[in-house]
Amino acid sequence: MVSSLTLRRPDDWHVHLRDGAMLQACAIHTAKQFARAIIMPNLVPPITRVAEAVAYRDRIRRAVPIELAFEPLMTCYLTDDADPAELERGKRERVWLAAKLYPAHATTNSAHGVTSMERIAPALAAMERAGMPLLVHGEVTDPEVDIFDREAVFLERVLAPVLRRHQGLKVVLEHVTTREGVAFVEAGGSRVGGTITPHHLSFNRNAIFKGGIRPHFYCLPIAKREEHRQALRRAATTSSRFFLGTDTAPHTADTKECACGCAGIFNAPVALQVYAQVFAEEGALDRLEAFASLNGPQFYGLPANEQRITLHAAPLSAPESVAVPGGDKSIVVFRPDTAVGWSY
Ligand code: NCD
Ligand code: ZN
Repeated sequence: MVSSLTLRRPDDWHVHLRDGAMLQACAIHTAKQFARAIIMPNLVPPITRVAEAVAYRDRIRRAVPIELAFEPLMTCYLTDDADPAELERGKRERVWLAAKLYPAHATTNSAHGVTSMERIAPALAAMERAGMPLLVHGEVTDPEVDIFDREAVFLERVLAPVLRRHQGLKVVLEHVTTREGVAFVEAGGSRVGGTITPHHLSFNRNAIFKGGIRPHFYCLPIAKREEHRQALRRAATTSSRFFLGTDTAPHTADTKECACGCAGIFNAPVALQVYAQVFAEEGALDRLEAFASLNGPQFYGLPANEQRITLHAAPLSAPESVAVPGGDKSIVVFRPDTAVGWSY
């Protein structure tokens, strides 16, 4: 029995840190576990200009103790009016690492998202020239398409044509949830990567309805059938094309525990422990460092971190919730139904 595991300090390639009091509550939990994180731009209003990203990056840095040496990596939110020159400038000035595609109305704070890929063809061409990856929320918004099929349909209808049209564009399929998503990434060559969340590895769609409706298991893309979870587990533990992206997405408890609750799971305080548990269950702890600390930097052309961290075999110890400063609201921390035997 392995009782401890030392790895290079990992990075989180998909994080929602929010702003204001929520940022104050959440940022430290990501910074404690990860050296760098790709920060999602779906604020209200979204981050579309270089100056906004610079100001947001400063607010994030101020929200985290300096000794944690945490580096936020910024992204541009693509709208129908995405400006190719602004994308190129932000990349040149080392502000943007990538740009994020939200199909309009696909998920939380995506009202300003893209309504058709034709509209952003010039922006995608600029990104292709600049070597700036496109990070994709891969779900169609067509109400005719069943919620459990939206990822698979998106790949065929939207993403495959984009890859054909932009042969040099790097693409990350974020929070992959289906075996079709896994196959798509694996077939895409080295310019296509995929992130996988701890929650999609640890439960399937039944957990959302076990004994009643359980809003803290609800996120988008929604968890799928067990066969899909198994495909994700295989991908995370065997393929260098997949890397760690928690999609930690905090919402206060009152906005999830209600008649029309928000999508998003706050997993930052437990992310690494849950990933370790999954890799241990798969007999693949020796592959955790590749997934958590090597495959992501390799895809983004960044150096791997030199610092090391150690995980211990011990029952998960984490708060049930995190308070939001300046009021009486709190954010419930993700906790799988199954035991987690790793702590950090
Ligand atoms: C995210 C959020 O709350 O910002 N929600 C989620 O369920 N994952 C948005 C997103 O990544 O889809
Ligand atoms: Zn997300």
